[in-house]
Amino acid sequence: MSKRPPEAGNSTRAVHAGERERRERDLLDALTTPIFQTATFRFSSGADVRAYQEGRLSREEYGRYGNPTWRATEQKLAALEGAEAAALFASGMAAATTTFLALLPAGGHMVTTNDCYRRTRQFCDEYLAKLGVETTVIEPSDTKKLADALRDDTTLFFTESPANPYLRVIDVPEVVRVCRARGVTVIIDSTFATPVNHRALGDGADLVIHSATKYLGGHNDLLAGAVVGSEEALGPVRKAVGVLGPVIDPHAAYLLLRGMKTLDVRMERHNENGQKVAEFLEAHPRVRRVWYPGLASHPDHDVARRLMSGFGGVVTFELDADFETTERSRWSRCPSACRSGTRPPSSARPGASPTPWSASPAASKTPMT
Ligand SMILES: Cc1ncc(COP(=O)(O)O)c(C=O)c1O
Repeated sequence: MSKRPPEAGNSTRAVHAGERERRERDLLDALTTPIFQTATFRFSSGADVRAYQEGRLSREEYGRYGNPTWRATEQKLAALEGAEAAALFASGMAAATTTFLALLPAGGHMVTTNDCYRRTRQFCDEYLAKLGVETTVIEPSDTKKLADALRDDTTLFFTESPANPYLRVIDVPEVVRVCRARGVTVIIDSTFATPVNHRALGDGADLVIHSATKYLGGHNDLLAGAVVGSEEALGPVRKAVGVLGPVIDPHAAYLLLRGMKTLDVRMERHNENGQKVAEFLEAHPRVRRVWYPGLASHPDHDVARRLMSGFGGVVTFELDADFETTERSRWSRCPSACRSGTRPPSSARPGASPTPWSASPAASKTPMT
């Protein structure tokens, strides 16, 4: 298990970060950050407009460029990741697609892994391909393949850790070592880890992406995404947000701000429950296979133990049953948004089909959502 540096604890940052910086008179001294449900902001003088445009005054202008509720939420998430800054988005997909569009040149090349959320893969296959961007897909633990896959025109490596759906855990320091030597930007989707269980930025990644819809929000009542890193690395992403407009609504930003306050305690319970459920399933005679990084049987167990301080609440498993039997089981009635404990076997989804990105029989099942 990795050691955390001595600093304010996760719970302290989860509750206070972002909030105090916003305690100004114009917030009427409210203890919590209000929802600024406004599309635009008023300037009180022409001098202020000029100062703002000349970069001498830092404030909000128009809702596509910023909002005080998002800013507080961004600061809280950045503090949790131990990062300089964060940018919020309307969804995890908005965060990933905007980041790829901002960072990849037309006709460029990126590398990713075969265990990866299917919509992100679809974006690469269908939409980045239209811009002439080529994607090479490798097996998550194969860093030799990674070195071979990097070309002179490769600018970006992207993967999830743990990845959806087989919870493959990436050896981030090793991936960073290989990519940095070739000037390739490393982006890790940490949705399934959260900053409580793993901080990929601390292991050298350039940017971290989150679907905040999951653990960060924590209550199944909002869609949101985020990109976290240094101001410099986030610069092109922020610029693209202003043009593409994938922005979060202030109310959703508030729900996320509130949800994150309990992230640390929720993750503690997720980690505990996930391990128990995974062990139970692994011992069950009707379960063919379980994927959970906290199990010694997981292909990345050693990497996970080295890099992560907990393994989360998502457990992937395959029933020893055909489709009809699986459909009759209670797992098949669990909605895809049911993230707090277990999820139905991916092979139980009607229409599940092998994906051309699959490198192993296991990876050929269609993941959730
Ligand atoms: C790992 C991962 N990243 C990104 C996404 C997309 O996030 P969102 O649903 O918030 O757009 C998902 C969705 O399931 C996911 O599992």
